[in-house]
Amino acid sequence: MNTQAQPEPAAAVQARPPMAMLAELTHRCPLSCPYCSNPLELAAKASELGAADWATIFAQAAEIGVLQVHLSGGEPASRRDLEEIVGAAHAVDLYTNLITSGVGLTERRLDALVDNGLEHIQLSLQGVDAEMADRIGGYRGGFARKMQVADWIARREIPLTLNAVMHKQNLDRLPDTIELAVELGARRLEVATVQFHGWATRNRAALMPTRAQAREASRIVAEARERLRGVLVIDYVTADHHAEYPKPCMGGWGSTGFNVTPDGRVMPCHAAHTIPGLVFEQAPGTHLGDIWRHSAAFNAFRGFDWMQEPCRSCDRKTRDFGGCRCQAMAFAGDARATDPVCIKSPLHARLQEAAEADAAAEGAELVYRTSPA
Ligand code: SF4
Ligand code: FES
Repeated sequence: MNTQAQPEPAAAVQARPPMAMLAELTHRCPLSCPYCSNPLELAAKASELGAADWATIFAQAAEIGVLQVHLSGGEPASRRDLEEIVGAAHAVDLYTNLITSGVGLTERRLDALVDNGLEHIQLSLQGVDAEMADRIGGYRGGFARKMQVADWIARREIPLTLNAVMHKQNLDRLPDTIELAVELGARRLEVATVQFHGWATRNRAALMPTRAQAREASRIVAEARERLRGVLVIDYVTADHHAEYPKPCMGGWGSTGFNVTPDGRVMPCHAAHTIPGLVFEQAPGTHLGDIWRHSAAFNAFRGFDWMQEPCRSCDRKTRDFGGCRCQAMAFAGDARATDPVCIKSPLHARLQEAAEADAAAEGAELVYRTSPA
């Protein structure tokens, strides 16, 4: 019997409902992380959708089958109406996850969020001590505040995921990061090696891990997953510039979820605006169902017909979908190209050489992100 997955045509992907949406409520943020993945051009406060528009978007999302909403930013707690927005998502039975640095949350706000239906919190971690975390986040006192928020979350037994972005400067503290997640009572830890999109590309020399760090991180994660079975689930985003095969970015373009920007543009992934020629419809004016099924941007890389060689005839294409379109655009200048992370890409050697050079660089200054007005 042939057990290999059969390529799924674009029409089948188009007909399948999305599972999740990422709602970027604002690009404003008190932190200045040098690996910020938000676009180089941030949405200004004046352009942000109001709570009523978000309520309409959530209702449309639920209607087309979305199950969970990730409320993100920037820092979503920068919005005074966050509680109302959470309530609107909960009212249409979406599972609500808040992705936050913790800055801007108080005990009272946390209680109000839970009362309004918040079901899960994903707390970002810039380091395991104040010196590292406050320096990387560019926000003095941020680590202490975060630990306080983690304690409030634990006391209320709100399911907690810690999201630790790892890079050259903090990967050696990965074992401490895992221990901290256990101490804080997190159910899940996302060990996310920095991805070089958006602002992060300006900090390649300061953040690119070495190959040895990447290899050691994989070993530590494998060991901890075994040791902490039943205690902590660890998700792991590897250092793909040192890898041989790419990640299945977004689980395949336009196949599992979508992003809505602070001003309402609906995109297949957070960096899709870097691909020239794609036009993004505006929510809630255009219904999410129409966008999901008919938007040219969403249909651009569904299925396999858009692929070039070597992806087109490769048997891994049902697993990784040719990798990341935005990374192909950034490095190959062609969104249809094989992700240069792939060993079969003609650009693979150049990508790895650049990664080695950045990893070997010493003393590069961090270029911090700034928040929009
Ligand atoms: Fe994936 Fe394309 Fe590389 Fe095959 S050639 S492993 S489909 S990126
Ligand atoms: Fe856009 Fe990977 S970030 S497809």
